[in-house]
Amino acid sequence: MKTILVIGSSSTDFIVTTKQLPASGETVFGEAFATRFGGKGANQAVAASRLGAKVTMIGSVGADSFGEKITENLLSNQVDVQYFKQTAQQSSGSAHITLYKGDNRIVVVPAANDLLTVAYLKQYSSVLNAADFVILQNEIPQESNLWVIDFCAEKAIPLLYNPAPARKISAASLAKTTYFTPNEQEMQQLFPKNSLSESLRQFPNQLIITIGQKGAIFFDGEKEIMVPAFATEAVDTTGAGDTFNGAFAVGILQGLPIAEAIRLGNLAASFSVQGFGAQGGMPTLADLKTSADFTFKF
Ligand code: RIB
Repeated sequence: MKTILVIGSSSTDFIVTTKQLPASGETVFGEAFATRFGGKGANQAVAASRLGAKVTMIGSVGADSFGEKITENLLSNQVDVQYFKQTAQQSSGSAHITLYKGDNRIVVVPAANDLLTVAYLKQYSSVLNAADFVILQNEIPQESNLWVIDFCAEKAIPLLYNPAPARKISAASLAKTTYFTPNEQEMQQLFPKNSLSESLRQFPNQLIITIGQKGAIFFDGEKEIMVPAFATEAVDTTGAGDTFNGAFAVGILQGLPIAEAIRLGNLAASFSVQGFGAQGGMPTLADLKTSADFTFKF
């Protein structure tokens, strides 16, 4: 079976649900508080694993109870965590989420995730070399991502880069990825001077822009193709993008053409938003197969 290697963040999400957002200097009452597992790397690893992929993750947690629970959760989702770093130098990563009308605002504190350095990753060059597909996001140091992108380009290992949260990266590095999947806001950071169409044309079959409830768009070399999202009532949109990325990677590994892999990502994301927490609604393959829209041959 082919292996997906996720190199990325893992966190605990501290979620406050509120009907009112505080202004600066204001205190308001919230409705509820909960903790859930999160971190874009861990979310994408779990999303792919639940859809039946063999997933290994390289991550970093603190020597605290949060770190223990994060790795236990990954293990219980059949994600191989043998290359995780556990450090006493930092606490485990956390994300502080305000959930308001089903949508989220997030402050991420990377902490131990920042110790996923180039030196640490270099120890696992052979693991990277053996991967069939690599997934990266932006919650670990930029130099580490750049090193992984260069490594994968040199060894022709397919790489999906989800540039979230937004940060600057050169077009030359983006060009070395196999796919990159920003949303519209992240596109603003990546290409502030370009229209979406100009950027899509620059990266045919490589740049996939997710456009929230509308779906995702890419340029196939001849025309722009919009793959529509599946309409659903959202309880919590946290982790929908991660579910999309994990499922898209599984679709590509299953040999689906890009538009079909995007459709699989959209279908998985439509399940994801129906559950609370980033991983709460992430579907298994069996869940997806209950949908009449699951017409994929695997
Ligand atoms: O993409 C959603 C994730 O972003 C959350 O789980 C949170 O951890 C933040 O990193």
